[in-house]
Amino acid sequence: RIVPVIAIDGPTASGKGTVASRVADSLGWHFLDSGSIYRLVSLQALRSGVAFDDAERLVKIASRLDVTFDGEEVVLDGEDVKDKLRQEEVGNGASKLAAIPAVRSALLDRQKGFRKGPGLVADGRDMGSVVFSDSVLKIFLTASVEARAERRYKQLIDKGLSANLERLVLDLRERDERDTNRAVAPLKPSADAVLLDTTALTADQAVIFVLEHARERL
Ligand code: C5P
Repeated sequence: RIVPVIAIDGPTASGKGTVASRVADSLGWHFLDSGSIYRLVSLQALRSGVAFDDAERLVKIASRLDVTFDGEEVVLDGEDVKDKLRQEEVGNGASKLAAIPAVRSALLDRQKGFRKGPGLVADGRDMGSVVFSDSVLKIFLTASVEARAERRYKQLIDKGLSANLERLVLDLRERDERDTNRAVAPLKPSADAVLLDTTALTADQAVIFVLEHARERL
């Protein structure tokens, strides 16, 4: 029997991570935050002084990533890097290297490996369109840039990090632009995705929406 996947795609800070992990929890399914894989490559590149357009060396990093996802921890070469992955610098780098086709291919099998019974909830940009194109349910989450910047701002402040709201709006616009206009796996809802605008919704409301759609299809 094929293991079912729910794909939740959308732009940076649309709330997909929160929604996807809560949906996974309530179904008792596995969870993949695919952005963290791109972020891991970015972090490793920053640490080894590899430029974000050096396709050859980035592909090497991508294929050799020694990472385990252990509950809440993301262990890279023996170190928990979960908090480091959230840094804006790491996210911006991820968005640059994610535009390189060979890097994306090098990460495909690693992402597909998260598909295990009883099911998987995967969040990212191309979960429904590329990696798990046979998902039983594809959700495309959006929210206004302002709403997303405010959420990201709160997350950073809550973690005791510094943040600048105007800077975040500019960064989000730039990243959307790059994610939307790249040639490979651009950020775009697949034809069979259900659109959900979370600008005026709480995370709870978005989770309920996804679970209701999931129930109809499982
Ligand atoms: O979602 P998150 O902000 O963690 O992703 C970081 C970057 O990784 C994104 O800006 C995007 O360019 C890239 N990404 C991607 N495909 C995915 C997940 C993330 O290209 N499935």
